[in-house]
Amino acid sequence: MLNILRRKSVFSQSELFSRATAGRAREQAAPLKAVLTKAYGYSEITRLREKVVKELREQNKKTLMVTSPRDGTGNTLLVSVLGYSAAYFSGMKVLLVDLNMRRPELHLPFGLQKEKGFTDILIDSLPWQDVVKTTGLEELEVITAGDPDQDLSFFLNRPILNEIVPELREKYDLVVFDTSPVLVKNRNNLDPIHLSNNCDMVIVVAQAKMTCRNDLKQTVSAIQEGGGQVRGVVYNKQFHRGVISTLKDR
Ligand SMILES: Nc1ncnc2c1ncn2[C@@H]1O[C@H](COP(=O)(O)OP(=O)(O)OP(=O)(O)O)[C@@H](O)[C@H]1O
Ligand SMILES: [Mg+2]
Repeated sequence: MLNILRRKSVFSQSELFSRATAGRAREQAAPLKAVLTKAYGYSEITRLREKVVKELREQNKKTLMVTSPRDGTGNTLLVSVLGYSAAYFSGMKVLLVDLNMRRPELHLPFGLQKEKGFTDILIDSLPWQDVVKTTGLEELEVITAGDPDQDLSFFLNRPILNEIVPELREKYDLVVFDTSPVLVKNRNNLDPIHLSNNCDMVIVVAQAKMTCRNDLKQTVSAIQEGGGQVRGVVYNKQFHRGVISTLKDR
């Protein structure tokens, strides 16, 4: 299985950028915004972007989902950096969507409010156009999570992506979904396996010294069995050094 994963890996054995000191509080460790502004120019990101963009374009596809086996592996960071990079360097019109109602954080790198986002489309049937937020980069827009503390259970079966993806495809060149991890309990949340069915391509993020092989295998199998197209695994490597100083070193 690992061989299969290796072969399919979009970005195997590559370091994205270094991670904050392990064990520090999340907020103090590496504000996503600080990392984002430095990280989008990294050659590994460029390589990944080119690969993903080329494949999607060749196949006339546009939707990409990013998930992981467990929490804190770097999904949100990858979605942000990849989206920023595609918009900035490839001139693509990009939309990022936060579908992680468990730990919604895609608003953070862009300094946006979480409120008025995807849950408003889901519950209040707001048109998606009404909750799209700008980022300061013209080609990049974001739909934040909204208010995930509400009881979503009644609405979770609504095939909302089926409804809006065709319209998103009309307006954007690339749509990236940030989702919850596959192997954690997803109560009151959108199921990443189900979501993967609605996406053209799925990338699984694994983190060095954190993601175990079995978890990775289980995650990939679960998505594939659910009908999702796992294109590869991004190997996110962390160092026990501070992010800011490490990034300066490079
Ligand atoms: N390679 C990296 N370099 C620097 N910082 C990183 C790296 N990977 C992750 N981080 C930091 O680790 C924290 C967790 O990353 P992130 O929020 O992207 O993970 P996640 O998989 O989205 O987590 P969650 O399960 O909460 O959604 C963030 O503060 C992020 O900036
Ligand atoms: Mg996240």
